[in-house]
Parts: sequence; structure tokens; C-alpha cells
Amino acid sequence: MQPRSWLFVPADSEKKIAKALDSDADAIIFDLEDSVAPANKASARDILKNLPQRTERPQLWVRINPIGSEFHRDDLHLIGVADIHGIVLPKAEGGWDVIELAHRTGNIPVHAIVTETPASLFGMLSYRDPKSPLVAMSWGAEDLSAALGASSKYDADGGLSFTYKLARSRCLAAAAAAGVQPVDGVVADFKDDQALKVEAEAASREGFTGKLAIHPAQVAVINAAFTPSGEEVRHAEAIVAAFEAHPDAGVLSVGGRMVDRPHLVQARRVLERAARE
Ligand code: COA
Ligand code: MG
Repeated sequence: MQPRSWLFVPADSEKKIAKALDSDADAIIFDLEDSVAPANKASARDILKNLPQRTERPQLWVRINPIGSEFHRDDLHLIGVADIHGIVLPKAEGGWDVIELAHRTGNIPVHAIVTETPASLFGMLSYRDPKSPLVAMSWGAEDLSAALGASSKYDADGGLSFTYKLARSRCLAAAAAAGVQPVDGVVADFKDDQALKVEAEAASREGFTGKLAIHPAQVAVINAAFTPSGEEVRHAEAIVAAFEAHPDAGVLSVGGRMVDRPHLVQARRVLERAARE
């Protein structure tokens, strides 16, 4: 089942790791990249090597350092040693990066962060590859704005500027095209629950099925936003039942509204996501 909440935890902090494992996050991402200083990378890897064996929930992921960085190869030595479900690859620029990683790691599942460099915005369709171990794609604005030389990612009115909205939408469409999970980016202001709720619900309406988190307090809000409501489930059940009763119909009326095949696909997806618990 696709994780709703993907909680980052700096891999050099045993205290935060314990808290993350105790949270309700569907997936935990042990970070070896931006949140761990160069001097602590080696000790962070040692902590991950010595994690206790886990049950299947939460899924455990590790964000390694990007391809081409001086830490990348040492990070890969964790694979097969630490009890890790998959790799989060930052600063990915195209599907070829995922394939290169797969050659080195032997097809462990990959979640790529796909909008962190300027060039990355142009390689999106290359993720569509049936041989790829890619299972999720997410987007980020922080590294992109730094790489673009921007002084802010916001417009004068406080909304995300066009460039980052573009990055977000491209990530969503590319993930759908590749048949992998689209995951929305982080809300850095972890004390603002309301902003997180608004953003997560908007992402869910648009088609994202999960969101990155940086603080345990964000997990419940994210899980709720990506869990279909009772009303959504009942509506989806009504659509599925209507098509089951009329298997040859192309278009039907449910609750006074037109529904056709795309609605049926959507309804099945809602029921799949609702069946997770
Ligand atoms: N995972 C697990 N535990 C976390 C956590 C996380 N991501 N973030 C905070 N906590 C813990 C804190 O250690 C603290 O524990 P304590 O009560 O035992 O002291 C508790 O939750 C409350 O934290 P709080 O005081 O609200 O925040 P903070 O100032 O300690 O930490 C950050 C703030 C941003 C440094 C921290 O949330 C963090 O490290 N986030 C992850 C950053 C990251 O991985 N970034 C890379 C991806 S963008
Ligand atoms: Mg980063």
C-alpha cells in the first residue's frame, strides 16, 4: 500500500529515530543527505546498520546522498546491511539516474525527488520505464530555488511562485505517466497545522496520494488528508455498485449526476485507498 505520510528523520539522531519509529508515519525516511553534516555521515550510517529488525509498518527508507556526491558510494554500502525497504534518491535529473542506481543496488525500490535541480525540470518523461524500480516521485522547492539563485520561492502575495508550481505539477503528471506514487513536498513550518492541512488536502484533491513530513506532529494531519472520508467512500461504492448492476453501460446516473468510465476508475482508487487499515 502506498504510504500517505513519509516522515524524514536525520539519521545521525538516535533520539529522533526512536521517536519516528514510535509515530504513526506510514514510511520513515532516514536522511543521510541535507540534514546530516559531512562530519556525521559515517556515524549516521553506523546507526542505520545497527537498527533493530523491524516489522513491516512503518516502511523504512533511506535518503542517500545524490549520485556524483562524495558520500554516495559509501551510502550504498548500507544496502543489504541495514533493514531498508527502499532508497530515496535526491537531486534526480531523469530516469537514467534511477536505472544507474538500480545497476549498483540490484533493483531495490526507489523514490526519486525529481525537481531539485534546474535540469531536472526537463527530464520528467524519462521516468516512464517499465524496467525501472521507481515506485514514487516527490518534488522539492528548497534546493531548486537555491540552484536558480532565487531570493525567495514566494510571490509578493505569499503564494508559491510559478516556477515551483510548475515543478510540482510536472512531478504529479510525470508520476502518473510513470505509474508511480506522486508525493507532495514538505511544509517546513511544522508548527502551522492549519497551513499543512490546507496544503495536504489540496494535494489530495489534485491526485497526490502522500506527502513528505519533517516533524512527527505533521503525521496525523497528513494521514487524515490522504484517507478518503466516509462520504467519499459511500459515493465511490455507489458508483462501483451502479456499474456492477449495469456492466454494459458506458454512462450512468448516480445521485443525480452523470458518471462514466473515468469516474469508475477513480471510485475504485478511492476504495483501494480506504481499504488500507
Ligand atoms: N523525527 C523524529 N522526531 C523528531 C523529528 C523528526 N523528524 N523532529 C522533531 N522530533 C522530536 C524532537 O527531537 C523532540 O523530541 P523531545 O521532545 O524528546 O526533545 C520532539 O520531536 C519535538 O520537537 P520540536 O522541539 O518541536 O522540534 P525540534 O526543534 O527539536 O526539531 C527540526 C526541529 C526541524 C530540527 C526537526 O523537526 C527535524 O530534524 N526534522 C527533520 C529534518 C530533516 O530530516 N530534513 C531533511 C528533509 S527536508
Ligand atoms: Mg535537499
